[in-house]
Amino acid sequence: MGPRVVYIEELRDHVGDEVTIRGWLFNRRSSGKIRFLIVRDGTGFLQCVATAKDTEPQSFELCERLPQETSLVVIGTVRADPRAPGGYELLLSRLQPVQVPEGQFPITLKEHGVGFLMDHRHLWIRMRRQFAILRIRDAVLWAVREFFKREGFVATECPVIVGTQVEGTTTLFPLDYFGEPAYLSQSGQLYLEATCMALGKVYWIGPAFRAEKSKTRRHLTEFWMAEAEAAYFDHEDNLALQERLVRYVVEYVATERRRELEFLGRDATKLLAEVKGPFARVTYAEAVRIVNGRGVPMEYGDDFGAPAEDALSGHFGKPIFVERFPAKIKPFYMKRAPDDPSVVLCADLIAPEGYGEIIGGSQRVDTEEELISQLREYSLPLEPYRWYIDLRKWGSVPHSGFGLGVERTIAWICGVRHIRETIPFPRMLDRLYP
Ligand code: 4AD
Repeated sequence: MGPRVVYIEELRDHVGDEVTIRGWLFNRRSSGKIRFLIVRDGTGFLQCVATAKDTEPQSFELCERLPQETSLVVIGTVRADPRAPGGYELLLSRLQPVQVPEGQFPITLKEHGVGFLMDHRHLWIRMRRQFAILRIRDAVLWAVREFFKREGFVATECPVIVGTQVEGTTTLFPLDYFGEPAYLSQSGQLYLEATCMALGKVYWIGPAFRAEKSKTRRHLTEFWMAEAEAAYFDHEDNLALQERLVRYVVEYVATERRRELEFLGRDATKLLAEVKGPFARVTYAEAVRIVNGRGVPMEYGDDFGAPAEDALSGHFGKPIFVERFPAKIKPFYMKRAPDDPSVVLCADLIAPEGYGEIIGGSQRVDTEEELISQLREYSLPLEPYRWYIDLRKWGSVPHSGFGLGVERTIAWICGVRHIRETIPFPRMLDRLYP
């Protein structure tokens, strides 16, 4: 038996010990008589130092030859060294290759074009920047779960194969369900509305599918949403909950993934400042005026495009709730404002710094009569929504909810301009492999 197997992230507890690390060769260089290996093991990157004096001769010789991404086991003594990346290094005693690649790893430490990197996404995710982003993704999802747990929400699940649309017919992925037309779910919302009448406050983190026909840096065809729904929550309760969630997630990531943010060149202090105070709130009508005032053309009744969202975030410098959209540009399930039935009790949350809309939510229609009338207004068939209408017959109550776009939230937190890097294997208009 060799020395104890540890992970790179645990090295602080093993200074002075001889340990075994199992990983991959990320990079190597020589400087005079010293050979340096950078080894990664999935938890971090570690500099290993080999010298003719301390390292077993065959291993020392291999340090000069092994190619990038050789899988290997290294054994050595842990040293604390503030100059080493990560603060620790390994004085190498010996190493054992597991598999030695025959050629040059396709992704070198040089620059590559995006198309090439996307074709090699299965390998690209091993690189340092992707490592940082995917670890931040892990922290964002963990923070969402922890937040909802603390707030007393029950975790649940929604079906992914569904018979009804939620967010419009233009982005549906159709499916043949044993001869019946079906779709991949655009959102779990309708099912969460049913579940919250059973469990009170519920959430799920699930995939959403939208056949987005345009290529933008903010759209995937498969993405993840953290969706919440709460019985007896009105529009105000809904916004307050969203604000607490976003603040919680940012604060969690700023603490737990400080090094990853630093590596990405993202200023955590700036992020924390953005979410510290109350979020901005404007009505859709006010937002249109602000956007126009900043030189972006848009008319009352238009959807917000990316330029309009960017103009708004430039104006406020913090997250902005845009409330009370015209009913005709929002889905059928949103409740009309009692004082102005041409608008709905909804809000989109726009991230700062031009990262676009990260949350969409609303108070829901809660009477049978209003729901049927809205389904008709949207020319939707009643039959597939029978069960959804039925909810309004059996102890219906005001309720509200929202969906947080996981990838867009990660893009903002990481300061990554294109959403494709925020999910391990992005699905887009022109991308099904890998
Ligand atoms: O605003 P959306 O369409 O809201 C809903 O689907 C509601 N039914 C959710 C609910 O109330 N339970 O989508 C919610 C969020 C958006 O704010 C955005 O962040 C993200 O999901 N999103 C996308 N992210 C990546 N690619 C796409 N194609 C996206 N479409 C929406």
